Amino acid sequence: MKHYLIKTYGCQMNVHESEKLAGMLKSLGYNETNNAEQADIIVFNTCCIRDSAEQKVLGNIGAVKKLKKQNPNLIIAVCGCMAQENGRKELFQEKYKHVNIVFGTHNLHNFKEYILNFEKSKKNIYDIWEKEVEINENVEMYRTSNNNAWVNIMYGCNNFCTYCIVPYVRGRERSRTIEDITAEVKTLVNEGYKTITLLGQNVNSYGNDFSDETNFAKLLRTLCSLKGDFKIKFMTSHPKDLTDEVINVIATEPKMSKVIHLPVQSGSNRILKLMNRNYTVEHYLELIKKIKQQVPNYFISTDIIVGFPTETEEDFMATYNLVKEVNYGGVFGFIYSKRTGTIAEKMDGQVSDEIKHDRVNRLLKLSKQIIKEQNLALVGTVNEALVESKTENEYLATLDNGKNVILQTSENIKIPSFVNVRVNSIDRNKLICSLVK
Ligand code: 5AD
Ligand code: SF4
Repeated sequence: MKHYLIKTYGCQMNVHESEKLAGMLKSLGYNETNNAEQADIIVFNTCCIRDSAEQKVLGNIGAVKKLKKQNPNLIIAVCGCMAQENGRKELFQEKYKHVNIVFGTHNLHNFKEYILNFEKSKKNIYDIWEKEVEINENVEMYRTSNNNAWVNIMYGCNNFCTYCIVPYVRGRERSRTIEDITAEVKTLVNEGYKTITLLGQNVNSYGNDFSDETNFAKLLRTLCSLKGDFKIKFMTSHPKDLTDEVINVIATEPKMSKVIHLPVQSGSNRILKLMNRNYTVEHYLELIKKIKQQVPNYFISTDIIVGFPTETEEDFMATYNLVKEVNYGGVFGFIYSKRTGTIAEKMDGQVSDEIKHDRVNRLLKLSKQIIKEQNLALVGTVNEALVESKTENEYLATLDNGKNVILQTSENIKIPSFVNVRVNSIDRNKLICSLVK
């Protein structure tokens, strides 16, 4: 029996793409293992969004070299965003010769072919495609998530935020058809998945590459009309493209999750302009107002970058105050990382590491405080929860917004299923709940 180990770095997009890599490996007769020493193939599905992500991947790729001594037949493959980055192919050719297969984001569907070719020729394969190709709908998949299923609705990004490397390594936007997405979601619902998470770099521009009226709101309405007991989530949304129509679908469709991840990146208009985000703080706050007025039980989270070139204490405080004002349920705070080939790479006014760390820590402290207050405010309220597993004397569940629930009940509850729970107390970040009938 041959075994595979896939190491995934970065975002949900990569997590899902690893499910496709696993599907292809399974169809070649490989079985999953967690033990690198037992593996016949190790795949690194990489990320390059920040330098720290890359350094981690490179360190781990270097570390598996010694395994080849024990098992000379071990195949090592590297794919994903870092493999696609300019100059990386040469790096692997010259410095990481123990890596046998290197392929990029546009040719993931060829993985099986690469393995078979390498097994035959024993010659390292380096295949990075410069340009995106038509979406390949025939990739096998091995889903590793239990109740949640990821579904790609589009690939690539056209936005070119000045700090971001994604448009360079994932190409231009390409949407899957409503028919293909609907067919996949229908199958998943029939298989029992309770949460369907739609994936795209900027889901709000779904359908912009079609010549008809297809847009994200229409896709959501179509999916909500499917029969079954499930919820639809999505990530990520760009504030410049979030339409009233989409807010309306989220507000009115019971099958829509009320979680909206709306990355603001900065609370300073000057920095937003330098970032090429194409919206102002005022526009962003207008969207937040609409969400708060229209969406029942809304949960808003965000991404923020601190220390973008030229960011002053005043700019940072504008971000800090925005976080307070919006009262986010979750803040993903990142330290700006210079990425080769992006527009911001060449900007003057780089901020020192010390200041960046200080700002991100202040932001995360604030966010923690807000979350604590929000959790306390949940005590006494009734919420819908998805029951996912059982321990000896309690059930483990999650709220729509991902908060962990400990459900204490003597009733027998089907797993998975949606139930209503009352929050009785908070234990660290866990909600201790009882069943409401
Ligand atoms: N440095 C730091 N954070 C970044 N992000 C994207 N590019 C960079 C970068 N160069 C963050 C953004 C984005 C999230 C996925 O990663 O906040 O929303
Ligand atoms: Fe990067 Fe901006 Fe595209 Fe998001 S929208 S992937 S931050 S370029």
